[in-house]
Amino acid sequence: MPYYTKLGLLPQKRHVQFRRPDGCLYSEELFGTEGFTGPSGTMYHIHPPTQVYGWKPLYSTKQEYVETDIMRMRHVMTGGQRMAPRGDAVTGRVVLFGNADCEMAVCNPAEQMPYHYKNAQGDECLFIHFGSGVCHTMLGTIRFGPKDYLIIPKGITYTIIWDARKNGTDGKPTDGGPSIENTPYSRFLLIETTNGSHYGPPKRYVSKEHGQYLEHAPYCERDFRLPEMPLTWDVKGDFPVRIKARDLIHEYVYHYHPLDVVGWDGCYYPYAFNIDDFSPITGKLHMPPPIHQTFEAHNFVICSFCPRMLDYHPQAIKVPYNHSNLDSDEVLYYVEGNFGSRKGIEVGSLTAHPQGIPHGPHPGTIEASLLATHTAELAVMCDTFRPLFPTKAALDLDDAKYPASWQGEHFPGLTSGKMHLNGVTVPQASAAAFPREVNPVAVIRADVASRIVPAPIVNGNGGGHGGNGAAANVPPSRAGDTANVWGP
Ligand SMILES: [Fe+2]
Repeated sequence: MPYYTKLGLLPQKRHVQFRRPDGCLYSEELFGTEGFTGPSGTMYHIHPPTQVYGWKPLYSTKQEYVETDIMRMRHVMTGGQRMAPRGDAVTGRVVLFGNADCEMAVCNPAEQMPYHYKNAQGDECLFIHFGSGVCHTMLGTIRFGPKDYLIIPKGITYTIIWDARKNGTDGKPTDGGPSIENTPYSRFLLIETTNGSHYGPPKRYVSKEHGQYLEHAPYCERDFRLPEMPLTWDVKGDFPVRIKARDLIHEYVYHYHPLDVVGWDGCYYPYAFNIDDFSPITGKLHMPPPIHQTFEAHNFVICSFCPRMLDYHPQAIKVPYNHSNLDSDEVLYYVEGNFGSRKGIEVGSLTAHPQGIPHGPHPGTIEASLLATHTAELAVMCDTFRPLFPTKAALDLDDAKYPASWQGEHFPGLTSGKMHLNGVTVPQASAAAFPREVNPVAVIRADVASRIVPAPIVNGNGGGHGGNGAAANVPPSRAGDTANVWGP
């Protein structure tokens, strides 16, 4: 976090004597990043934070990626009953995609955490899809609920206590989520940095000189929920802290409660941000994906696709254009709503679109959306600059038909005779607001025929530039032909 805050008891100056009620000194700890030149915090422990009484390795977290040489669209379905509850908020994490910069996991915990945890190798971003609870951290307590992002920076010790999900009078979960038998506490998406970098806001939204969020940012400081009291547990006993480092979970044991900080200040702390507090940037014509960007770390970004007004030019195309994100792999996690440009996508689906091929609206969705004025879809996206690889767990949940889902007639009106003429399909509100633009679309270069060139050589039948005419170059079509050549 780029701005300063404080909580609890602090001495007036740094690095001076600060005593407990019994006269002993509190133990000051500087929590620094980037060799103590990045954001840092200073905290005061009841006990020296160095007194370890036992340590042992527990289990490896190193991921094994599969199909690392295969480039294809993927649709991993984690919704409904597909993922059984397992483990706790740490051991239950199922990594689905990852690379040397980040890992993406979905977690459906079966039990509470009976220990404290510290990720000492990366920042964590938990997106709470269903469920609520309390996150007690060494820097204070954050209560969280559905659709909260919970950012827990590297090195912060924490534990999570889940609320039990409840059924309503109709016997169904009150949060609209999967059954309580299948999902007793929560479903959350985890995006974790594996390159040691830290989450921060997009730099263009923050003043370079002053660190304050700028007016055009889709959220600002007021939207963050920072740690609050309770902060301090003054308890003796044996307390295990599981520490993730070097892709291995270690267990360290302390003879006092690990959350023994009485006060801290600085610019390095966990916080929550609800995705509904992201105010989408909308436009007269389609706005590109970066307007959804919410966080960034080195080599990847996290974006929030929120309910919003759609483009308001009277003849705007409302769903995203086909696009090649040449330098990024894109993974979308679908949270709720009607996913207008994607067929077959469910709540809890993840789609992965690799940088090697374009993607875009599914057949029929462009014309179907022309009169829409708003979208209710909610999704979280992670774009990485380096290729993402699936795990075996992802393949087990894979919808193998997804790569072929763009096949079919994009313009069914061709056969039904219901094609719209330019300028005809206009939302009434937009037409009233922009009457001068409710006209047939002007075509800048109308002489299309003179620009058509013959098709290239097909099956040795000539053609190409200077060939014998287009008719001879049309590839022979047969009933049952398909372009579905996927499948590794
Ligand atoms: Fe995309």
